[in-house]
Amino acid sequence: MIGRLNHVAIAVPDLEAAAAQYRDTLGAKVGAPQDEPAHGVTVIFIELPNTKVELLYPLGENSPIKGFLDKNPSGGIHHICYEVEDILAARDQLRAAGARVLGDGEPKIGAHGKPVLFLHPKDFTGTLVELEQV
Ligand code: CO
Repeated sequence: MIGRLNHVAIAVPDLEAAAAQYRDTLGAKVGAPQDEPAHGVTVIFIELPNTKVELLYPLGENSPIKGFLDKNPSGGIHHICYEVEDILAARDQLRAAGARVLGDGEPKIGAHGKPVLFLHPKDFTGTLVELEQV
């Protein structure tokens, strides 16, 4: 069902410092910050030859990243995103297998303008999983 690894998302306590580290120390191609108010995050995309890294920073009071950074003040891997061809078929298949889909279960438009869903980390070896229809 799942296809390519679309991105790894890393929550960071200092977006500019993290972007500078990827750009200057690791020599990666680092994009500009983008506010995603619907998701409560500011995102910077880092383009790698085979996938992307997303740096996530809280935006607004109810950001889902804030609690994560409270527990992980240095930052940390927040989720991984796999590509799927048909997100509704994937959702239904996963639900039938007993996996929990977060929120109301309806896909939302993610940071790349494509439909996304999140799966409960307790059902996937402690890892928050995002599915993105490509
Ligand atoms: Co993501």
